[in-house]
Amino acid sequence: MKRFFGEHVEFFRQYRRRFQTTGAVAPSSRFLARALSRPLEKHAGPSRVLEVGPGTGAVTRRIVRVLKPEDKFDLVELNETFVGMLQTRFVEDADFRRVADRAQVHQCPIQEFHSDQPYDFIICGLPFNNFPPALVREIFGAFFKLLAPGGVLSYFEYMYMRPLRKVVSNREGRERLSELEVVLQDYLGKHRFQRDWVFVNVPPAWVQHLRRDG
Ligand SMILES: C[S@@+](CC[C@H](N)C(=O)[O-])C[C@H]1O[C@@H](n2cnc3c(N)ncnc32)[C@H](O)[C@@H]1O
Repeated sequence: MKRFFGEHVEFFRQYRRRFQTTGAVAPSSRFLARALSRPLEKHAGPSRVLEVGPGTGAVTRRIVRVLKPEDKFDLVELNETFVGMLQTRFVEDADFRRVADRAQVHQCPIQEFHSDQPYDFIICGLPFNNFPPALVREIFGAFFKLLAPGGVLSYFEYMYMRPLRKVVSNREGRERLSELEVVLQDYLGKHRFQRDWVFVNVPPAWVQHLRRDG
């Protein structure tokens, strides 16, 4: 319970300090974490898993529980405070410690991350609605380069957030959100195979699952 509150307090502090990249007032609920990890839960063989924007580890907690002994796990997080919290969890938390020898936390923006080998699963918590459309296009380009053929990208977005934000935005903001919609719909139209609705989260969210064609 103490850790739960500690994580929420730190998350909120980072939201106030770095609204643009933190993008949420609280970590994801366990229901959202479960929906994001669902394709990974069904996997059979050894897999390479990448989590992008793990924050305090709300989704990571689910991922480490479903990883199999042969799986390899990388995490890419921009914020050094969150990186420190995650590294502590890989030492102190029993679920995290179980996979610590196969997990690595990288502190950098995902658009600058490179890997020699592709990933079978990418689980992403980035707040795309706060980003410029060109950056979102760049990040999706990076994801589809990092994915193995047949690999799955799962990410979430808050329900109806873009139309709602358009109502309270100025003209420039509305144009940015419309361009963002075009970028996301482009990828969703070509690659989405499932969308989950998660109501028990603040705010409620959709989880989008996309597959890179094999
Ligand atoms: C909405 S929070 C999600 C945190 C966590 N996954 C959860 O669901 O509770 C977004 C996270 O993405 C990180 N982030 C934002 N931009 C990033 C980037 N370009 N590369 C890597 N991480 C980024 C932020 O620091 C933050 O931890």
